[in-house]
Amino acid sequence: MLYEIKDLLKRPEIYQETGIPFWDDEYISKQMLKSHLDPEFDGASRKMAFIKKSADWIANTVPPTDNPLLLDLGCGPGIYGEFFARAGYQVTGVDFSSRSIDYAKRSAAGKKLNIDYFYQNYLSLELNRKFDLAVMIYCDYGALSTEKRKIVLNQVYEHLKPGGKFLLDAFSLNEYNAFQEKQIWGIQESNGFWREDEYVELKRYCKYPQHVTLDQYVIISKAETSSYYLWNTYYNKDSLVEEVEECGFKTYGIYGDVSGTPWNLESPTIAVILEK
Ligand SMILES: C[S@@+](CC[C@H](N)C(=O)[O-])C[C@H]1O[C@@H](n2cnc3c(N)ncnc32)[C@H](O)[C@@H]1O
Repeated sequence: MLYEIKDLLKRPEIYQETGIPFWDDEYISKQMLKSHLDPEFDGASRKMAFIKKSADWIANTVPPTDNPLLLDLGCGPGIYGEFFARAGYQVTGVDFSSRSIDYAKRSAAGKKLNIDYFYQNYLSLELNRKFDLAVMIYCDYGALSTEKRKIVLNQVYEHLKPGGKFLLDAFSLNEYNAFQEKQIWGIQESNGFWREDEYVELKRYCKYPQHVTLDQYVIISKAETSSYYLWNTYYNKDSLVEEVEECGFKTYGIYGDVSGTPWNLESPTIAVILEK
């Protein structure tokens, strides 16, 4: 047991994956959906007031009159999607959580909103249409390895019309500099985030020199022991612009977040609108 846990808590190679499903896990996805739908919690989605402000800013900055076809990558249960549809976009949402996609479909149908939702991996999109605007919101981009970020950029590029725009956000170097390595443990009696039954959670925050961090979780329940890795890559203006321009995009605008806050060195996030 000791050696098994020690092994699971080893500092992995950068961007290593455990191969254990996270977004689409039967139990975890239930907790994730709860977190998306909590309007007062910056969890799986940001707080509702921010999302509303953000969707308004997007609709003013890249308006649906000129950019009608919108692709939302990692759309979750469709919170942004519904704001976008109401603003006048024709929305397609893609997510790799079947629970979120099912919820999004039911919610849109209940509100008589015409939105297309697909259960798909945004690393291998199969959509037989091209879009005017794509969005990937809440720092999903930096959770991917260098190789996978390239794949996403290429996928989006291929799915945009000429002149099409891509909005994404990522955590800034300011957050990387503030990140502290530490180790924490806790006992969850039941109905916790990771398991229905009781479990012990060992959490380790690791900092890597390449502006990358890892939140590493080892979850020990009666039935089994599993580990989960959540990676983050952090950017400043230059590193983000250099990376996206390598894949053929031009930079259309740089902001502090996806609600259009002006960028400054203290911004916890950085958002960019790219142009094909
Ligand atoms: C942090 S949440 C953000 C959700 C939404 N963009 C928002 O801001 O409310 C990330 C979302 O990306 C989805 N996701 C993660 N990896 C994915 C992949 N490879 N393909 C499609 N969706 C993915 C997750 O299921 C989750 O719904």
